[in-house]
Amino acid sequence: MRIGIIGAGHIGGTLARHFVKAGHQVGLSNSRGPGSLAGLVRSLGPNACAMTGPETAKFGELVVLAAPWREPAALPAPDLVAGKIVVDAMNPYSADGEVIDLGGDTSSEVVARRLPGTRLVKAFNTMYYHTLATETRLDSDSRLVIFVAGDEAAAKAVVSRLVEQIGFAAVDTGSLREGGRRQQPGSPLYNAPMNLQQARAALEALI
Ligand SMILES: NC(=O)c1ccc[n+]([C@@H]2O[C@H](COP(=O)([O-])OP(=O)(O)OC[C@H]3O[C@@H](n4cnc5c(N)ncnc54)[C@H](OP(=O)(O)O)[C@@H]3O)[C@@H](O)[C@H]2O)c1
Repeated sequence: MRIGIIGAGHIGGTLARHFVKAGHQVGLSNSRGPGSLAGLVRSLGPNACAMTGPETAKFGELVVLAAPWREPAALPAPDLVAGKIVVDAMNPYSADGEVIDLGGDTSSEVVARRLPGTRLVKAFNTMYYHTLATETRLDSDSRLVIFVAGDEAAAKAVVSRLVEQIGFAAVDTGSLREGGRRQQPGSPLYNAPMNLQQARAALEALI
């Protein structure tokens, strides 16, 4: 699959490494331009390419948002990702590290409104990047869980396959609104590495 990743820092860079290793082609962008990503793409090998933001959005059959949520300028133009699976790995932190108060909304619902017509899935947002980088497991019984939320089962299935391909287990938390709430900062599922059994029990307690 061609995967575009917008934001090439801790999370974007870690996902890029996993996706390339799993055999995907990855396009990466950041705020400073492709030249600043030369070292990273060199280390990722021939299946990774540095691009501008719009090029990343066009390149990806699936596009991952891995920039700060507080920077809406990082989002692609909606027409470039309309109809595509867009994975929101972002959390709504201010520059000071405080969780931004969105009233009754979840951050992914706000993203969905900003990117109408996309097949939005919230995933990869609950796990600390270092855990994501280092805790891949071949043995499916001991895998750590990555949670996925969204309104379209087929889109969640694609993202769940990606999760499995990179050595984690996927657990569906529900719709973008309710599942997204279960995955947001402050939830028991957030930043709490769990295996499948623990994740299912924790989710059960929230439903
Ligand atoms: N760190 C974690 O463990 C973790 C875990 C789960 C989810 N997340 C979420 O993932 C997102 C990224 O976090 P991170 O820790 O990876 O941050 P990071 O290391 O600071 O990387 C942020 C990336 O976003 C890019 N970026 C910033 N503003 C942009 C803009 N206007 N347009 C395009 N790209 C822009 C940055 O590019 P430049 O460097 O060129 O500015 C950088 O490549 C956040 O929403 C965070 O909440 C983080």
